Parts: sequence; structure tokens; C-alpha cells
Amino acid sequence: VTALPLPPLKVLVAAPRGFCAGVDRAIMIVERAIERFGAPVYVRHEIVHNRFVVDTLKAKGAIFVEELDEVPDGVPVVFSAHGVPKVVPAAAEARGLNWLDATCPLVSKVHRQAERLVAQNQHILFIGHAGHPEVIGTFGQVPPGTITLVETMEEARTVRVSDAANVGFLTQTTLSVDDTAEIVAELRRRFPSIVGPKGEDICYATSNRQAAVKAIAHACDLMLVIGAPNSSNSQRLRELGEREGRAAYLVQRAADIDWAWFEGVRTLGLTAGASAPEVLVQEVLARLAVRFTLSVEEITTAVEDVVFKLPRSLTA
Ligand code: F3S
Repeated sequence: VTALPLPPLKVLVAAPRGFCAGVDRAIMIVERAIERFGAPVYVRHEIVHNRFVVDTLKAKGAIFVEELDEVPDGVPVVFSAHGVPKVVPAAAEARGLNWLDATCPLVSKVHRQAERLVAQNQHILFIGHAGHPEVIGTFGQVPPGTITLVETMEEARTVRVSDAANVGFLTQTTLSVDDTAEIVAELRRRFPSIVGPKGEDICYATSNRQAAVKAIAHACDLMLVIGAPNSSNSQRLRELGEREGRAAYLVQRAADIDWAWFEGVRTLGLTAGASAPEVLVQEVLARLAVRFTLSVEEITTAVEDVVFKLPRSLTA
């Protein structure tokens, strides 16, 4: 008996995709802390928004909690890549905990800018998504009342400040490049003396992953983004595929794929958010290869060589 040939499927794999330097560093901090101090090492909040990463670290001896008061005395605790309000390290310090900060240096940079703007008496308009831990962390760098969230174009049109001559803006690092440009333009129109970063604070990894999706989406019938539903940068990648007029889905792993999506699909676009490991991309490709005769092509729109240093307490 000869098996029927599998239907052909072309896969365009976006590059860059997956892990960014901040995620790499955050995971390494937890791993090194376990090696150095022994298990368990507590981690406040998912170190990065990916279940596979979290489960892998759990297996190595990490314990994940949401709040610092769930951390017992005498054990090390790591703060997640998204950053934390100032009160969190202060409370850890007060309890004499050995705390390690895995906040991405590009998020810490925004934290310092927020402090600087407030020191200059500028009211901050912060472009970001309500409730995201990065937003909570950045708001927690400055006194309440000195920063206002701007989530949408509508809010950019209507937000009020007490002194229009003293306004600054900052942004979350994982936003849509296109949406943010519009919002920033509106703020600049309404507050001509507004101070802020040259463009926005969107990080290199977020913008590179979005540009890579833009480069392939037009040629695809379907886009799959490997990433978690609470991962902001992954959601933006899925949205981008959809805005290019493609069916686009977020999957955490190969098992989440609904094969009905593939009806009539000849070319698939594949990418992964900044918190999704490459093994999950390979897992999806392997699963596809069971059903289709694949021709895989990687489309590279940028080469990344960013690496962040580990905290000194782990390298000394
Ligand atoms: Fe940092 Fe950007 Fe990654 S802010 S954690 S490099 S997505």
C-alpha cells in the first residue's frame, strides 16, 4: 500500500522571532540564582509571560508567587522582566530578603526617565495597556498623581492635564509601533512643548518582530503567533497579521492548533513573541510536518546581537 502524498504547505518563518535579550537575561537570572543559592528560589510574577518557560523553571526549583508577602523569610526572590513598583524592592529590603531584579534594562531605562520627568515637574502621559505588569511597575516609580495612562487614540484626544506647558510622555516597551506613532503625533499636536523620547520607548525586539511579520503577512493565507494571551508583544504580532487582512491566531503550543484553520491555506506565516522559546517554534513545525509536505523558508528582516549583562551578585 502506498500512502497518499501529504498536501503541500509553504511556511514563511519570520526572523527575528522569539526570545529577546531581556527575556534571555531574566531566565538566566533565575537559573543562576538556583545554581548559586540552591532551590527553592522564589519568583514574583511569571518571570516572562510563557507557561512553558515557567514550567521549565518550576522543574528546576523555582516557585512562582504573585506578591512578595507569599515569599518566606530567608529565601532568594527574583522580580520579573516586566519591572516592579519601587515599593516592592523596598519591602524586600526591609525584610532583609536576598532579592534579584530581572527587570529588562530597557524597562528600567523608562523607569529612570519617569523619575527624571517628575523631578522636572513634568506631568507624564504614559502610553500603555491598563493592568499590564510593566505599566504597574512604571507607575510605581513616581508619586501618584504625576502620571496618567493614555491607552487609546480617543484618550490621546481627550486627556486633560493641569499645565499643558509641562507635559512629558513615555511608553510601554511592547506596544504596536503603528498605533503608538499615531497616539504620539496626537499628543505632540495637542501639547506642542511635550517632552519625551525621540520616537517612543518601544524596544528593539518589539519593533523588529513587528517589522518581520509585516514582511511576510501579505504573502500568507494564515498567520500563527506562538505566544501567551497575556503577552503584550505577542498579541500585537497577532493583531498585525489580522490588520494585514490575514486570519491570525495566537497559540501557546502545537497542541493549541485547530486544523480547521488550515482549510484552503497554501502559505502559512509563523512567528513567536519575545517570551516564547524557539523549541516551541520547532514543535509547531514538527507537528505541521505530520500533516503536510512542508517547504520552509525563513525571511530575515533584521539581525539582532543585543545581550544584557547579569546582575553583579550573580557573576562576582
Ligand atoms: Fe526587554 Fe523588549 Fe524583551 S523591553 S524584555 S527587550 S520585549
